[in-house]
Amino acid sequence: MRILTGIQPSGALHLGNYFGAMRPAIELQEKGEAFYFIADYHSMTSLTDPVKRRQYTRDVALDFLACGLDPAKCIFWRQSDTPQHTELAWILSTVTPMGLLERCHSYKDKVARLAEGDAGAVNHGLFAYPVLMAADILLYDSNVVPVGKDQKQHLEVTRDIAAKFNQLYGQTFVIPEPQIREDVAIVPGTDGQKMSKSYGNTLEIFGDEKILRKKVMSIVMDSRTPAEPKPDADKNSAVQLLKLVAPAEIAKDIEERLRAGGMGYGDLKKALFEHYWNYFAAARTNRAELEKAPDYVEQVLSAGGKKARVVAETVITRAKRACGLSA
Ligand code: ADP
Ligand code: TRP
Repeated sequence: MRILTGIQPSGALHLGNYFGAMRPAIELQEKGEAFYFIADYHSMTSLTDPVKRRQYTRDVALDFLACGLDPAKCIFWRQSDTPQHTELAWILSTVTPMGLLERCHSYKDKVARLAEGDAGAVNHGLFAYPVLMAADILLYDSNVVPVGKDQKQHLEVTRDIAAKFNQLYGQTFVIPEPQIREDVAIVPGTDGQKMSKSYGNTLEIFGDEKILRKKVMSIVMDSRTPAEPKPDADKNSAVQLLKLVAPAEIAKDIEERLRAGGMGYGDLKKALFEHYWNYFAAARTNRAELEKAPDYVEQVLSAGGKKARVVAETVITRAKRACGLSA
């Protein structure tokens, strides 16, 4: 089984990214041949600062490696080190109906958001994004693509494009199966909405202790006093976060004390911070170690790129033969 997924280098990773995407990917590296890449070509559709792109790419790599991604068990690389993605994207774009892309929610949402401020920021890359994503997936004969719910439609587009190419030019691409993480709950942010960089409500996996403590202590709560029973404790975002980072018995005990009355939100938040900080203690040590060897990340990514290129070259050659670009 070949598993493939891409991660955008778009800033410091948070608990939503960790529980929603990173931990599942790290677990899957045990289950098959895992291909994980940092989607730096994709980041160009929304990020235009070269210094930040370089920094975010390195940060995402460091975060993943520190959290347990093992380059001996998976191929981990930078997308732009395998330029076959862009070549295949062009080939695929010629069999992609416009209507398929025009229907994509993520494109429509971004256009709606950008149009309010700056209509000029709607670039062709944003529109063509799903074709590049199809190329990413098809280039490695991927069977399984683990993604969040927001990527479901892009996977359907990939399957349609692959089927269209196969129908026109003969059996060439493996049709991938999406693995949508329906079971992974949406991690709430410090304001109770979905944790997301765009909402400014994130708790980072790695960050300054003081700043993160302050963020936790400022999680918005209702005005009930410590003595009052809180029968709806399970709806509290700090309780939901606590369940992710604390041992089950401890989280259960705190939840029960809130329900019964006699425990206040200040103590809840203190407990949350303590367990959140401890949860990533080992990863933090790993990260500090990795940072001491500045070339290590670069070495991992270039070695991964080399391995990925071998597969990418085989598949692009197959595709070019099929459509008559080469003999
Ligand atoms: P952001 O919303 O901060 O921009 P991304 O869209 O870059 O995050 O997230 C990358 C992946 O991380 C998503 O596809 C999703 O699987 C996961 N993810 C992000 N936020 C959450 C969340 N709050 N809960 C669960 N999973 C999340
Ligand atoms: N579009 C994905 C996201 O925003 C990232 C991505 C790019 C990806 N190419 C991919 C995911 C290929 C899976 C397979 O999260």
